[in-house]
Amino acid sequence: MSEHSHLSTHCRVCGARIGAFMSFGRMPIANGFLTAAEIADEYHFELAPAFCSACSMFQLVEQPQPDRMFHGNYAFYSSTSRYMQAHFERFAQAVWSKFLAERSDPFVVELGSNDGIMLRHFQARGMRHLGVEPSVNVAQVARERGIETVSAFFGRTLAEDVERKFGKADAILAANVMCHIPDLPGVAEGVRRLLKPDGVFIFEDPYLGDMVAKTSYDQIYDEHVFIFSAGSVMRAFARHGLDLVDVAPQKTHGGSMRYTLAPKGSRPVSAAVGECLARERNQGLEYPETYLHFKQNCERSRDRLMSLLSSLRRDGKRIVGYGATSKSTTVTNYCGITPDHVEFISDTTPIKRGKLSPGAHIPVRSHDEFARAYPDYALLFAWNHADEIREKETAFLAAGGRWIVYVPDVEVIS
Ligand code: TYD
Ligand code: ZN
Repeated sequence: MSEHSHLSTHCRVCGARIGAFMSFGRMPIANGFLTAAEIADEYHFELAPAFCSACSMFQLVEQPQPDRMFHGNYAFYSSTSRYMQAHFERFAQAVWSKFLAERSDPFVVELGSNDGIMLRHFQARGMRHLGVEPSVNVAQVARERGIETVSAFFGRTLAEDVERKFGKADAILAANVMCHIPDLPGVAEGVRRLLKPDGVFIFEDPYLGDMVAKTSYDQIYDEHVFIFSAGSVMRAFARHGLDLVDVAPQKTHGGSMRYTLAPKGSRPVSAAVGECLARERNQGLEYPETYLHFKQNCERSRDRLMSLLSSLRRDGKRIVGYGATSKSTTVTNYCGITPDHVEFISDTTPIKRGKLSPGAHIPVRSHDEFARAYPDYALLFAWNHADEIREKETAFLAAGGRWIVYVPDVEVIS
């Protein structure tokens, strides 16, 4: 670990000394789409992950200030993908039927409720609900849809405020949010206080086991300060009187895990927890050597992708990126992908269009421009939506277009 010895700190969960096992180099804010005029002021930090051998938490060594990432103009709206909408409807339905249906006047809180993609299913049942969403513009969209939302960061203080105003929660939910919060102990403490003694805390995030298995290193970017495993979640929350009582793998975000936690001793622990921990041990998720191997896999993936892109460009092929994802910021900057490789990135999100991608400064354009003159190759940055996208883009393939993917391996698909 001496190679990155300047990148060492203390584990955000247990306080043990940790050091980066690799660096992805100088990185901009992953969701920081910008105009040409903003290039001069673009913010950078060093993106370097570490593994804590004491508590097994995978985490970033350095993270930009939260207000640089989640500000008034945060460009991420959950409700843009049809599949994600269906996913959150099922999530809400599962929570309702398993934990809330029998209760009188239950209260559900969602951390990082975004534009209300999940809470609207509770609101539709007339249930007491509260969304906590730090991004002012996104929270406003939720409010306009009638979803009760506060714009704030969740922690001990906010938990107390919420309890005073609404009482304790039957369920606290979070999707793709917990891995964003550097003060995990503060949030865990807030959750413990806000939860009823028979309440549940259910959250899901990209799963370390999938990331290591698929070399999907693009899960590593500024917002994802942690990549969780069942083992690390169990240890982190045990410190705050919460048991990990269930786990369930999810297909979303290229492989996620849903964790159910409950006040210590309040619920039986499902067999799935023990099975998942055993799989993690077999996969080596608890051993530092696994991450040195992961680093080599990242380097190999980068080399293969760059030699493919370079050789296609030498042959005069047009390559367009598909999906201006946050994840793609790590890929473009780590691999050194430039506008000479990728002409533009097609994206359906209105506020990303007309901007440049962070760091690599590849123009982001509308899907119309992609469809108007299909490129020879589309580099699938939104690989987590591959099924949905390939279903939609049959005309691209029919026109002779090909997909370039890099997860789990660098490959051309026609
Ligand atoms: P997302 O899956 O949220 O990834 P990340 O968390 O890494 O940002 O982002 C998907 C992006 O891809 C989003 O900007 C919208 C875009 N997109 C398209 O342009 N077309 C599509 O068909 C889909 C599904 C997504
Ligand atoms: Zn630790």
